[in-house]
Amino acid sequence: MALSLYLFLLVILLPLASNAQRQPPSPGYKPSSKFSSVSFGKGYSNLWSPHHQTINGSTVTIWLDNSTGSGFKSLNSYSSGYFGAAIKLHPGYTAGVITAFYLSNNQVLEKHDEIDIEFLGTTPGKPYTLQTNVYVNGTGDGTPLIGREVKFNLWFDPTKAFHNYAILWNPKEIIFFVDDIPIRRYPKKSAATFPSRPMWAYGSIWDASSWATEGGKYKADYQYQPFIARYKNFKIGGCRAGARATCRPASGSSALTGRLSRKQNVAMAWAQRYYKVYDYCGDETRDLTKTSECLS
Ligand SMILES: *[C@@H]1O[C@H](CO)[C@@H](O)[C@H](O)[C@H]1NC(C)=O
Ligand SMILES: *[C@@H]1O[C@H](CO)[C@@H](O)[C@H](O)[C@H]1NC(C)=O
Ligand SMILES: *[C@@H]1O[C@H](CO)[C@@H](O)[C@H](O)[C@H]1NC(C)=O
Repeated sequence: MALSLYLFLLVILLPLASNAQRQPPSPGYKPSSKFSSVSFGKGYSNLWSPHHQTINGSTVTIWLDNSTGSGFKSLNSYSSGYFGAAIKLHPGYTAGVITAFYLSNNQVLEKHDEIDIEFLGTTPGKPYTLQTNVYVNGTGDGTPLIGREVKFNLWFDPTKAFHNYAILWNPKEIIFFVDDIPIRRYPKKSAATFPSRPMWAYGSIWDASSWATEGGKYKADYQYQPFIARYKNFKIGGCRAGARATCRPASGSSALTGRLSRKQNVAMAWAQRYYKVYDYCGDETRDLTKTSECLS
């Protein structure tokens, strides 16, 4: 009797325990509901391969096949802001394929800045990796670009439904959000480690077979083409480049100080504890003196 009760409790409680890890604690504040939506046409336009992009209602679809990928770009550049989109990823074999949502000024600056959300494609049965990255004053002089990658798995299947992903960038910090859960905060520790020049927002799907999936072990396989990415629910709450000083940079919290609330910090700690799979600051194969923000 006692044994069967024990087994009964085990069967009931085990799934609850694992669910507790899978369901994020409420962050309390939802930036995705605070910033205004822009239709694709009002905020963005196609940047490359317009024949690999369709717009149906509020959804923009771009795809990669053996001829090309495709990408779009914001009409304006911004000196700070909240940039969000709901994205649905391609299922099945997607190794080598990158679906991206990012900020960059690489088209106008040789030593450019960039803030990335990149979904690294995968092989069936393994989860997508969401890679966040920050480049500052990147190189054009032959030295390698210094990335600041922090990677996550997700607590849901990103191929089954649209989820909201966002980059908050203001003069003090960068915060990456997944369904309003802050997953990574990158504070400004010095001018040399923080992007401060105007950037545009972009979305794209492309072939990065050389590195995207398990360090390049699995490549894009075009027998599974086309690889399709869907974007909708575009949010831009930003200060345009050259805007008046009265434009207040977007904040990731409801507090006047701009600081994340206790609930938001609890949610971020949860995401990092259970879903963070790589952090450049903890990578002993890297020369961390090149990323001084890791040392303090
Ligand atoms: C456009 O979207 C509508 C509603 O989601 C859908 O019913 C329709 O099949 C779509 N059209 C195309 C060409 O994909
Ligand atoms: C690309 O894919 C198409 C459709 O499957 C195929 O007809 C074509 O030969 C492929 N091209 C190359 C260069 O592999
Ligand atoms: C970028 O780095 C170069 C040195 O490589 C430096 O001269 C320049 O001032 C830096 N620019 C910014 C905006 O930090």
